[in-house]
Amino acid sequence: GSIAAFIDALPKAELHVHLEGTLEASLKMALAHRNDHPLKDSSAEAIRAGYTYHDLLSFLNLYYEGVELLRTEQDFYDLCHQYLRKVASQNVLYAEMFFDPQLHTRRGIPFATVITGITRARKDAERDFGIRSQLIMCFVREMSAESADETFTQALPYLDDIIGVGLDSYETGNPPAKFAHVFARARAAGLHVTMHCDLDQENTHEHIRQALDDLASERIDHGLNVLDRPELVARARARDIVFTICPSPNDVIRPGCGRRDLRGMLDAGLRITINSDDPGYMNSAYMTECLRSAQQTADLTRAELLAISRNAFDSAWIPDAERRQYL
Ligand code: ADE
Ligand code: ZN
Repeated sequence: GSIAAFIDALPKAELHVHLEGTLEASLKMALAHRNDHPLKDSSAEAIRAGYTYHDLLSFLNLYYEGVELLRTEQDFYDLCHQYLRKVASQNVLYAEMFFDPQLHTRRGIPFATVITGITRARKDAERDFGIRSQLIMCFVREMSAESADETFTQALPYLDDIIGVGLDSYETGNPPAKFAHVFARARAAGLHVTMHCDLDQENTHEHIRQALDDLASERIDHGLNVLDRPELVARARARDIVFTICPSPNDVIRPGCGRRDLRGMLDAGLRITINSDDPGYMNSAYMTECLRSAQQTADLTRAELLAISRNAFDSAWIPDAERRQYL
């Protein structure tokens, strides 16, 4: 069979997807209508035509604008249920999904509204499509450490529905060390830890070093710049760190980088997974499309695709008994 058919049939796990980044232009239209929210664009096509980015900030500005459309518990339910329905059709068996509560609470939307809608959608999607999922709560790094701490406190009644904490959004001037206190609280509460070290950000090597050495991060989201520093590669290998790689933002923000970096990560013996990041904003490239693009840019073999997919199940934050059901 073809390699495309092989990718279609591959059992998949996704470890790096932002729920707010799965917001499709079509759902934006529906939410704007439902919530009586004025939109500049009059169609889903017009919204998509406005999706041009040249760096992290220009992407985040559009992402923050889209977030404003999410208001009610039903909105969060629909967002999560649509994503899980879509990827279940791509043979994704398991997904760990980021969400950014501060982008909602700072607009006056209660933490409970956000997580209750998402959790209900997760349960229904498991019943309806057989897909399992968990939640990773991200802190918005350009907001204050105090705000992250308050958010963690708000999350305390819901920790049974949160498997880990992450760090995302605007990286420049916002190193992992800024959040040492809240990450220590999260670890003490038994949560897993990951954080973004996005491509080519200022002081990226120091951010990767802090994530590895100072914040006990178990994964690095993106982290492609690790290849610039052999000592960081060695540290990451010694700690068996997982790098959650996302071909789409790399293609969009730095075209042509994908081949060198993906191949470089594999050749350096690093543990990587392939993920979608923000599919609603990146040409609706969900897991299958991302794996195809990665396969083409880095000439991945079937054995490598299988190993990458197994990495995702191996490093998923689930009990071993559940892991055995997938592998
Ligand atoms: N928030 C949503 N997507 C993100 C990304 N790729 N990097 C940083 N923050 C994000
Ligand atoms: Zn991301």
